[in-house]
Amino acid sequence: MLELKNVSKIFNLTGSVEDERIALDNVSLQIKPGEFVTIIGGNGSGKSTTLNIVSGSLIPDSGKVILNDVDITKMPEHRRAAYFGRVFQDPLIGTAADMSVLENLEIAYQRGRIHSPITWGFKKADKEYFIEELKRFDLGLENRLGQKVGVMSGGQRQALTLLMATIRHRPTIKMMRRDYILFSQKDKVQAANEFDAELETNKIILKDKLDALKNSNLSRKERRIKAKEAMFEFDQAMLAKFDLTKQILLLDEHTAALDPKTARKVLELTNKIVCENQMTTLMVTHNMKDALTYGNRLIMFHSGHIILDVSGKEKQKLKVDDLLKMFEEADEKLINE
Ligand SMILES: Nc1ncnc2c1ncn2[C@@H]1O[C@H](COP(=O)(O)OP(=O)(O)OP(=O)(O)O)[C@@H](O)[C@H]1O
Ligand SMILES: [Mg+2]
Repeated sequence: MLELKNVSKIFNLTGSVEDERIALDNVSLQIKPGEFVTIIGGNGSGKSTTLNIVSGSLIPDSGKVILNDVDITKMPEHRRAAYFGRVFQDPLIGTAADMSVLENLEIAYQRGRIHSPITWGFKKADKEYFIEELKRFDLGLENRLGQKVGVMSGGQRQALTLLMATIRHRPTIKMMRRDYILFSQKDKVQAANEFDAELETNKIILKDKLDALKNSNLSRKERRIKAKEAMFEFDQAMLAKFDLTKQILLLDEHTAALDPKTARKVLELTNKIVCENQMTTLMVTHNMKDALTYGNRLIMFHSGHIILDVSGKEKQKLKVDDLLKMFEEADEKLINE
């Protein structure tokens, strides 16, 4: 669960009171795991500020950001990066232009992670996984793994950024341990001991399997495959028990800079990835039709407040005209105040 509790953010460029911009005014919000929230609202209503506060690019002036019951308000952005995937409006942000498609994907996969002692066998498997994922995009990216991202079109870059933001990061042992201690709600020492004991057990199981392979009369190739399987099982056993945080996807008008056809494609793909993986997602869009079509919850911002928050059937019943009317009413109310 992701929560904002009474979050306020005021920008003030000059220091004088007249120049104060209240970007968010005491906003509270709870997002349940698996919710796909579309966010609409006029220019300057606080949408990007909200996403920036969630990701840690901005620290609120007051209020809290809570992830799985843990206060992460002051956790630095780079440390939070493992729990969030982001795609911005500008296709140039999010990928490294002078690196290849494959290098960009590798970085995203390993982001914030320190190598665990047993990851060496997985490089090729990573590549196959990336190729499979890229094929789903239907943009031919799977054939351009070695190409520098800088020469690609905006749509291709944005599709790649989306994949980078949604591939399940491979947590290392060190990080999994740190997060388990942080998010398990258990006493710190108890959580660490539990982790270490389980790690020891799984290491012994792995070592036994690898020793048995060494002494077997299987071919080298067969042994390599079996060793990979054993390491995969090791990872899975640890992940199943200790990987508590599922990635949350933050999309800020991520199709706005693309031509209509590519935008549609990237949006459809977004929907597919989010729904298949039941990813908790916040998607900012100016397209009200898209906000109604996609997602299972819709939030409307106005002048730093949430003025509409609907889910499920209630959302399905809404029409673009209803949203436009609400915008107008909120504007009138503001003028009359
Ligand atoms: N870094 C900043 N410095 C000063 N003011 C800012 C800054 N970031 C945002 N603001 C102000 O805070 C308010 C909310 O901005 P925000 O970017 O959250 O709006 P938004 O809803 O994302 O709008 P848009 O649809 O135009 O992207 C605006 O008045 C904006 O000018
Ligand atoms: Mg914005």
